[in-house]
Amino acid sequence: MRTSHPRGSSSATGPNRLHRRLTVAGAAVAISALALTGCGNQKGQGNDETGSGSGSDGDVTIALLLPESKTTRYESLDKPNFEKYVAEANPDAKVEYRNANQDASQQQQQFEAAVTEGVDVIVLDPVDASAVASSLAKAEAKQIPVVSYDRFFEGADYYTSFDNKKIGNLQGQALLDGLKAKGVDPKSGPVWMVNGDPKDPNAADFKAGAEETLRSAGVDIAADHDTLDWNPDDARQWVEGQLQGGGQKPIAIYAANDGTAGGVLAATTKAKQDPVVTGQDAEVDGLQNILKGEQYATIYKSIPPQAEFAAKAATALAGGEEPKAATTYKDTPTDFVEAKVVTKDTIKDIVGDQIKASDICKGIEKKLCQDAGIE
Ligand code: GAL
Repeated sequence: MRTSHPRGSSSATGPNRLHRRLTVAGAAVAISALALTGCGNQKGQGNDETGSGSGSDGDVTIALLLPESKTTRYESLDKPNFEKYVAEANPDAKVEYRNANQDASQQQQQFEAAVTEGVDVIVLDPVDASAVASSLAKAEAKQIPVVSYDRFFEGADYYTSFDNKKIGNLQGQALLDGLKAKGVDPKSGPVWMVNGDPKDPNAADFKAGAEETLRSAGVDIAADHDTLDWNPDDARQWVEGQLQGGGQKPIAIYAANDGTAGGVLAATTKAKQDPVVTGQDAEVDGLQNILKGEQYATIYKSIPPQAEFAAKAATALAGGEEPKAATTYKDTPTDFVEAKVVTKDTIKDIVGDQIKASDICKGIEKKLCQDAGIE
């Protein structure tokens, strides 16, 4: 993959890329210091040579480009937390936020507008990770560093996410645990998989991890579906069609996130089926479905630490510094955040800043929250 790297030669791995960029930025600063007898610029120096635009006025501007708004995390957690941590790292920095509403070409326009404007750093959570190469080349040409947020793409200066294959393993194990809790032998019937959007590389990792865990338990994955654009309606329609097929009914349905799990449950409820269903994101709807006994588990992802990693890396890059990272992923400096499974018994443990009891318990029977120890 590196050989087709859009942002330099095949040897331009993450750290090398950054060094090259920093060297150029450093050279630009040194030259201007000579010419202007000491008029150095501390802020936004990573992009000072881009001419007009926000990067040239000394202030730091960071573009945050998120993929969609149907999954609640982006607007309600990723965006506000990222803004908060950027403000903590650099009170003068400005965040320009755009949401692509699951439209890859809209996101490309948003990215290219940020490049034209001359922002100092772009933080991108791509709708379609395979379609970002030409945009990255434009950022590279203007020496604008890019952070890969949550979904990995080649050519970023920094990446932060969860270990997404491990999330798949956790989802698979949760599904097995759900069957065990019901006293159902995992080999006794078919399991269906409702995966995420094929343009999202995380969806492939979730699927690979879940499949690995399910297959090693001898589960028969009888049918699977890639949910276009993570659209719950697409998930619902596929399950409805499958259930009308007249074949053996599933003992469990893997759903890649809570949105798709909602679609799955709409179909199974209508058909009076009660398979074990899993999810991801610990959304209010998903947690309520767990309390009602309709969904067995979800995956809790703590978004503030992820947003903090990205904010710190973005502000460091804007200042011409190399971001600190605990590890690397595909040659890119990376920080991962831990995720965990949540069931009815453990929802109470995740109630806090990210998920409020008042939201979970709104509009459902009071007893459901009381029984789960949610105050
Ligand atoms: C994934 C992300 C999940 C979920 C999904 C739907 O890439 O990691 O948390 O939100 O997209 O947008």
